[in-house]
Amino acid sequence: MHKMKAVAVHPGQPNSVHLAELTKPAIHQIPQGRGVLVKVLKVGVDATDREINDALYGNAPPGYNFLVLGHESFGIVEEVGPAVKHVKPGDYVTCTVRRPGGSIYDTIGRSDITSEETYYERGINLLHGFLTEYYVDDAEFVVKMPVGLKHLHVLAEPMSCAAKAVQQAYEAQRRLQVWDPKLAFVTGSGQIGLLTTLVLRLRGLEVYTFARGAAPNLKAEIVTGLGAHYVSTAEKSLKDVAAEVGRPDLVVEATGSSAVAFEAMEILGHNGVEVWTSITGGQKSVQVPSDNINLQWVLGNKLLLGSVNANRRHFEAGIADLALGEVTYPGVIEKILTNPVRGIENYRELIRLLVEDKHALKVYMEVANG
Ligand code: BGC
Ligand code: ZN
Repeated sequence: MHKMKAVAVHPGQPNSVHLAELTKPAIHQIPQGRGVLVKVLKVGVDATDREINDALYGNAPPGYNFLVLGHESFGIVEEVGPAVKHVKPGDYVTCTVRRPGGSIYDTIGRSDITSEETYYERGINLLHGFLTEYYVDDAEFVVKMPVGLKHLHVLAEPMSCAAKAVQQAYEAQRRLQVWDPKLAFVTGSGQIGLLTTLVLRLRGLEVYTFARGAAPNLKAEIVTGLGAHYVSTAEKSLKDVAAEVGRPDLVVEATGSSAVAFEAMEILGHNGVEVWTSITGGQKSVQVPSDNINLQWVLGNKLLLGSVNANRRHFEAGIADLALGEVTYPGVIEKILTNPVRGIENYRELIRLLVEDKHALKVYMEVANG
């Protein structure tokens, strides 16, 4: 039996990242001929991986004392079972993260909105991730990446979350019968903030994207490259900008700071929607002007929406937007992909960049060439 290297942590034990070993999987492990064997090429890491390595988040699969990391995957199909029609050997693919539990939503292909407390996510919770050499999965979860988007590889998964967050906002706003948003604020300019900026620009909104650092810097270059406005919170607050340009119809919060999530509630416009996307595994608490927010939200019929994860349809929508983004803002999106690390055995460098390098916008591992 073939062994493969994998990058893993011991959940609950801070900074326990290490090299683990897994047995190479085979397509027959997936029933009904629906298996897809994928050779892993690249895997991205994000704030969720950092929180998992800090032991704030994540659990090992039953029967294991380690969890293989990696939920942002890009690979090439090596072998498919007889029932698999939508991908073939040689195709580039990414893979969804969450697997179904037992709720009604899980049974209709919407595990991203499972109503069960327990959720199963590859590389995050109760299932091993993709930061290894090969994986197999059911065809349902393997999503084809067009060859022309190969250079955007690990962005497919974060893009799926951005696409879902915006789509959910539009779906929810059907409550208003007419909703024609013009102005959006995106708080945070990590990968989710930047990709959300792209999704909103492609829908014709004027977008203000907030970050801590003062321009010029890479984030500002990407935001302006997408035809949006970059605002450094060192220079202007959300309130300052709302006073200047008006209250936004839509806020997408993606800073990773729960304080900002509440701060943004003070500036949303009437009939607006605020979407929260940050995973905040810590224990921070802040004071908020609750009477004022409560009053404004009631008088303005405002909506607060949480959005997590993405199913294959959100991946497909996100990939379509990446393609449109490439022809609309050529060469901008790939600037997010700042820090490759080559070779699984260099996992310490991967985590060091993720944890320590404040300029590393996107850290990812090149597991194999292809
Ligand atoms: C992942 C999502 C996941 C969420 C919560 C994010 O980093 O990209 O797929 O649902 O973490 O675990
Ligand atoms: Zn993620």
